[in-house]
Amino acid sequence: MLAGLTNVLFEFGSRVIVENATWHIQPGERIGLIGYNGTGKSTLLKVLVGEYQVSGGTVERSKNTSIGYLHQDLLSFDTNDSIEQVALGAFERVLQLEKELEEIGKELEKTGDEKTLHEYTDRLHEMDTLDGYTIHHRTAEVLQGLGFANSDLKRPYKEFSGGWRMRVLLAKMILQQPDLLLLDEPTNHLDLPSIEWLEKYLQHYQGSVVIVSHDKFFLNRMVNKIVEVYQQQLNIYNGDFDFYEREKAIRIDLQQKAFENQQDYIRQQERFIERFKAKASKAAQAQSIQKRLDKLDKIEEAELERPNIKINFRVDRVPGKVLAELKEITKSFGENTIVKDTSVEINRGDKIALIGANGKVSLPYFESLPV
Ligand SMILES: Nc1ncnc2c1ncn2[C@@H]1O[C@H](COP(=O)(O)OP(=O)(O)OP(=O)(O)O)[C@@H](O)[C@H]1O
Ligand SMILES: [Mg+2]
Repeated sequence: MLAGLTNVLFEFGSRVIVENATWHIQPGERIGLIGYNGTGKSTLLKVLVGEYQVSGGTVERSKNTSIGYLHQDLLSFDTNDSIEQVALGAFERVLQLEKELEEIGKELEKTGDEKTLHEYTDRLHEMDTLDGYTIHHRTAEVLQGLGFANSDLKRPYKEFSGGWRMRVLLAKMILQQPDLLLLDEPTNHLDLPSIEWLEKYLQHYQGSVVIVSHDKFFLNRMVNKIVEVYQQQLNIYNGDFDFYEREKAIRIDLQQKAFENQQDYIRQQERFIERFKAKASKAAQAQSIQKRLDKLDKIEEAELERPNIKINFRVDRVPGKVLAELKEITKSFGENTIVKDTSVEINRGDKIALIGANGKVSLPYFESLPV
């Protein structure tokens, strides 16, 4: 086991997020962590990495397990360093060795003594075992794989948009090759080509992967196990998202039948008690049945809970047909032209998908879909 929860109780104040949660992550697993908004998926990842303490049960991480954790809070990270430097951060020890070799090398030139020579060769050996001479090459390769041009690599991280920054951090994480990758909604900041790249990459990833996602198509392609947070419980399904949906329907059905059977049983017993509690000969028996009923482990009705969301845009008066219109507009930031001579019309009732590569809003792709 790489990491896991056993009978975990986690609360924010008096609010229970999960109760009796057991989930053990094994090597090589591809897990989709799902659940409605606000059920506790992001929280569970924080529990797994040890950022949050639990109020009951145990959280285990095997000592040698390395964990990479990609999440939205990382977007607040900012630096003047180049994106190449940021990604190279994956190789902390190698970078330190590079520095030490330079320093010890200088000293060696001066003194030439035996002890310094030993220190020097020790570090050379460690560089070798860590494959430390290829890190610059490997870093450039992964960044290019994620869509960066060679000329981008020296540009400061802070010049890039959110989606591109997320890719730099993803590149860094990938280069670290952790045993366990925890990805909290990784596709949120990626455009379509980079989602495809990520999918391909993850399909061949050696370590285990946990992906939080609300995209069932993405999940169907990526995972072979689903962990669902539902009504403060963790439910585990050994299959993709489609399997989960089928299996959940069956579980709900079984629970509903068990509930109905138990209700029948309870009603029967109650009738018996009602009839015989006043009769001297049967009163003791009625009483003992009552006791048994009181102790009964009640089965909950299997009500399928859905978030109760109603979105209703009330308008005071019906607007005209054309709501907004852009006529041959051009927009640039300095040298960087975002759109050129573009015209767009937004009509009443349009449902519009605005798509484009990260860092660009491409109005030529602005398509209005019929309602
Ligand atoms: N630090 C915190 N203190 C108190 N409550 C919190 C804290 N963080 C999250 N919560 C609450 O705990 C619940 C679970 O939050 P969490 O962010 O884990 O949900 P989620 O499943 O990741 O949701 P989403 O799908 O919207 O990302 C939410 O109701 C949230 O408001
Ligand atoms: Mg979340």
